[in-house]
Amino acid sequence: MPGVRFFSGETVPLEMHKVRVVQKLTLPDIEARLAAITAAGNNTFLLQNRDVFMDMLTDSGVNAMSDRQVAAMMVADDSYAGSATYTRLETRLREIFGMEFILPAHQGRACENIVSQVMVTPGSIVPMNYHFTTTKAHIVLNGGSVEEIIHARGLEVTSDEPFKGDMDVAALERLVTEHGAERIAFVRVEAGTNLIGGQPVSLANLQEVRAACDRHGLTLVYDASLMADNLYFLKTREAACRDLSIREITRKIADLCDVIYFSARKLGCARGGAICVRDEALYNRMRGLVPLYEGFLTYGGMSVREIEALTVGLGETMDEDMISQGPQFIAYMVDELDRRGIPVITPAGGLGCHIDAMRFLDHVPQPQYSAGALASALYIASGVRGMERGTMSEQRAPDGTEPLANMELVRLAMPRRVFTLSQVKYAIDRIDWLWQNRRLVGGLTFVEEPEILRFFYGRLAPVSDWQQKLVAKFRADFGDSL
Ligand code: F0G
Repeated sequence: MPGVRFFSGETVPLEMHKVRVVQKLTLPDIEARLAAITAAGNNTFLLQNRDVFMDMLTDSGVNAMSDRQVAAMMVADDSYAGSATYTRLETRLREIFGMEFILPAHQGRACENIVSQVMVTPGSIVPMNYHFTTTKAHIVLNGGSVEEIIHARGLEVTSDEPFKGDMDVAALERLVTEHGAERIAFVRVEAGTNLIGGQPVSLANLQEVRAACDRHGLTLVYDASLMADNLYFLKTREAACRDLSIREITRKIADLCDVIYFSARKLGCARGGAICVRDEALYNRMRGLVPLYEGFLTYGGMSVREIEALTVGLGETMDEDMISQGPQFIAYMVDELDRRGIPVITPAGGLGCHIDAMRFLDHVPQPQYSAGALASALYIASGVRGMERGTMSEQRAPDGTEPLANMELVRLAMPRRVFTLSQVKYAIDRIDWLWQNRRLVGGLTFVEEPEILRFFYGRLAPVSDWQQKLVAKFRADFGDSL
């Protein structure tokens, strides 16, 4: 809670909610964890949830719902057409974003499919602050290409820049000069930029991007999936937003955009998605695709119960107390790791905590997947499941060569309102132990490498017996502790 100071002077994130429903967790012992990650081919995507203590793989579809969200699910109207449940969602989105035309979809990438099919033509370009995997895939599938024009400061791993997600507007101008405005399908700004560490975009930057779009007649599309965290950062980091309510900041952002889409697996703490459109003609072009790919216009592939939960969740996103827990817990974790000298992306962003495996395991060569090896080692040491975001997540080139990623990260997502501070402290403690013993960790090599999306299904083996040595050191240091 911003505004609560502790007498001790300590900085402690204080939740403005209480927990009323719980799920039992298990923490297998380290020998069982080694067996589980071996069975999963050292790929955290292939672990079974029963073997995971803290699931920090993603914050997508796994945030805790509020009592009001769960209650709303009980009164859903399941009419195929003209459902009152859908009308409630439409009304809420109009009220929050001030856009007239709304389309439902089953999740974020489904919105990207519709936006890209309608707006991307072969040879067209989509400038964006940074890509997200599914976004880029849909643009490329429709014959377009992505130009990432993140501000130079955005890619510095350690920084004190508050808005690392900002777009380089001069670079946007250069793209227009070079290719002509007619080649640009649309300009995309991603709130809480996912792949560079959940880093926010400032309101001032979005205003500059809008001005550039106006100069050249370009359409501005805003991916609001990670908007809740971004709103918190605008309120706490940008002077122009300090005296505005979250609702007012949201409207200032929306007023600058032509299209807003989002994954409701993140925004609104439910499961689904939606596209909000200002222009009727553009809406009409998108509308035809919804019944084709998603479902009728009054559910769009979502369960009506999820729609009810989403409508309430979107309303709660306008409450600073409800959106501050994630960024504050992430900041606590990032700052505690940083204080111990453990390499993390700074400043703390949204989404989660990102460990820099390139520096953590600087002795593991990148082609041995340092981030993948660290994710495997962290699971063995703690039962914490993170996600590799590095070379393993890249695809091989057509000639079989392997591009090395710019960054080797282990993402530890922070599902909102799910973990307690003592659990976060446990994760910090085990990461610290691993940091002290990092020289024991070795690399991985593929034993089964699918051609497409290898990071989802691929299986790897350790290049030596380093995992047994890690387990032995854990036992020596922790005795019979789990
Ligand atoms: N846009 C952004 C910024 C996202 O982070 C995601 C999903 C999507 C679009 C696609 O939405 O999953 O509902 O289809 N991010 C998830 C993650 C998968 O784990 O970060 P979706």
